[in-house]
Amino acid sequence: MEITLQNFGHKGELYYADNVPVRRIAESCDTPFYCYSQLGIESAYDAYASAFAQHDTLICYAVKANSSQAVLRILAARGAGADVVSEGELRRALLAGMPASKIVFSGVAKTAGEIKFALSKDILQFNVESEPELHQISAIATQLGKTARIAFRINPDIDAGTHEKISTGKLENKFGIPWQSARQAYAEAAKLPGIKVCGIDMHIGSQIMSLAPYSRAFERIAELAQQLRDDGHPITTIDLGGGLGINYDAHNDVAPAATEYAALALKTFGDINCRLILEPGRSIVGDAGILVSSVIYVKQGGNSTFLIIDAAMNDFLRPSMYNAHHNIVAERNSGSEQVHYDIVGPVCETADTFVRNWQLAAQQAGDLIIIEGAGAYGSVMASGYNTRPLIPEVLVEDNTFRIIRKRPDYDSIIGMDIP
Ligand code: LLP
Repeated sequence: MEITLQNFGHKGELYYADNVPVRRIAESCDTPFYCYSQLGIESAYDAYASAFAQHDTLICYAVKANSSQAVLRILAARGAGADVVSEGELRRALLAGMPASKIVFSGVAKTAGEIKFALSKDILQFNVESEPELHQISAIATQLGKTARIAFRINPDIDAGTHEKISTGKLENKFGIPWQSARQAYAEAAKLPGIKVCGIDMHIGSQIMSLAPYSRAFERIAELAQQLRDDGHPITTIDLGGGLGINYDAHNDVAPAATEYAALALKTFGDINCRLILEPGRSIVGDAGILVSSVIYVKQGGNSTFLIIDAAMNDFLRPSMYNAHHNIVAERNSGSEQVHYDIVGPVCETADTFVRNWQLAAQQAGDLIIIEGAGAYGSVMASGYNTRPLIPEVLVEDNTFRIIRKRPDYDSIIGMDIP
């Protein structure tokens, strides 16, 4: 399978983000930087919205995938809500114009401070992950004279078939309430002050490339919804979580389309008279972003030729953290000489390797190297390791671009220290 991205690729000698050559951006803001396509984000969101148009569905974009204000504003303007997992993300979503009435608060363990803040903003729903958390929410809501709308995140014990570090729906994972204990948890919730039970929530993992695990999990959740209603609980929303994968490289299966996912969800939940909530992250922004870097040196090693680029594992962690394969392309792609490179960053760890034995046209210092599929879990997972400044983010809107996050200067980075 060839990877064809909608918004990025070569036109002649130059590599473009929509109608802007990335070289032009590199000349103005220096590499490395993340670059996002507004059109790409919009079309990925629209694919979900139209696939679910026939059903009452709220798309709560998972802010953790890319939490840039500019990105959130694009989605807010389209009508998206947000799935947040911290007070910081909640503040970001509100600031970007996502109404509290469209925000769900997920996450394994919300602190008292976070719960208080979310209640004061009157968010749509807490996705509760344990009984102690339920009691905490009840106590704080009662104290504030508020009512918290809650769903329990149910752990359906389904293997999502994805990387073990991002698989969340098995009983051995720390997430959610085991489905066997669900009825007990709802019975407990129904007795507590300050709590209004409104639904069920699930999220079985991320970068899921097959609909089969969803199908099994959906069945389990639909059955539970029926049982809980029989027990007298008002189940009016079903939150299906996120997790749909994207096509990172040519060696994987092809990710299911939003339409196929919607067909499955609506087959299971279409008739049960519930509002659906979705929490997609990666599949909204992943393919809408790239990381643009430059070659610092081409180094002949003992066994291989290293292409050392100015982006590193601290800027983009996925390859070293999850052994993720991303398609990597060079702007200079036309020379006749082809070379197999190990593409690495300058950080002092062997883990700082993006790919081994990757064929490109021969490169030289200063050439642009582009890591594709970097719009999700890229910038948000970056760190300042090796006192490398966090890299800027740029948004392309058709034929224009603007910096949406600046590169911090050294004084402000080091100035955070108190000697
Ligand atoms: N909802 C919940 C409760 C989640 O925990 C997540 C992701 C999502 C929604 C969004 O899932 P998505 O649609 O993006 O797959 N850093 C890892 C991914 C971690 C995902 C964590 N949870 C990576 O780079 O692959």
